[in-house]
Amino acid sequence: MRRKLAAGNWKMNGTAADLAEVAALAAAHPAPGVDLLLCPPATLIHRMAQVAGPVAVGGQDCHAAAKGAHTGDISTAMLRDAGATHVILGHSERRTDHGETDAQVRAKAEAALADGLVAVICIGETLEEREGGQTLGVVGTQLAGSTPDAATAANTVIAYEPVWAIGTGKVPTLDQIAEVHGFIRAELVKRFGEDGNGFRILYGGSVKPSNAAEIFAVSDVDGALVGGASLKAADFSPIIEALEAS
Ligand code: 13P
Repeated sequence: MRRKLAAGNWKMNGTAADLAEVAALAAAHPAPGVDLLLCPPATLIHRMAQVAGPVAVGGQDCHAAAKGAHTGDISTAMLRDAGATHVILGHSERRTDHGETDAQVRAKAEAALADGLVAVICIGETLEEREGGQTLGVVGTQLAGSTPDAATAANTVIAYEPVWAIGTGKVPTLDQIAEVHGFIRAELVKRFGEDGNGFRILYGGSVKPSNAAEIFAVSDVDGALVGGASLKAADFSPIIEALEAS
């Protein structure tokens, strides 16, 4: 069966002082019953990996090229060199802030997989798209366009993050989450056959200690990609415990 995954995305938050939160998290979960992942800013990856214990460390983006004249970018080899084993790709904030397209996300994911990183590929609709009845169409297009042919259950995680639920405190209904996760599962099986049943599908968007358990009870929710509530061990720990209990 699919091993569950509690992942945290620190976004553009965190300096050395915040590593104490990671040490506390590692101490609180020495033998976690689920996979744990934290994705800090690139500047913290190496130092976080030193104190993360059972928590895997990942990047938040990578370039599709192996090296070269790409000022400000980071390659998969650099991520691995710093201690990362995973990389988030196609987060809606990158799609919005940096105009990333499905094709670009896919190229980055291809580079990540080829270099042995696990890709956490993010997809999700805007509020306008949801209200326009386009959710499954948008999610299906992003999933197909952003996921490489080389994706497997072992090297790729899909994160469904409705854009309107990110950082807003708004969460879809459990039925809405179930509908989209079930749709993603069916699309994965259509494309990848039986292996499609093994991909972890995370839910992301305003996951908190107070709503984690009910979200984790939804079928085909294999964990969460958590933003704000992953910054403090006191918030992330109960989410991890809810996932372990699910
Ligand atoms: P929040 O949990 O802060 O809503 O962020 C979700 C997210 O974007 C994780 O990638």
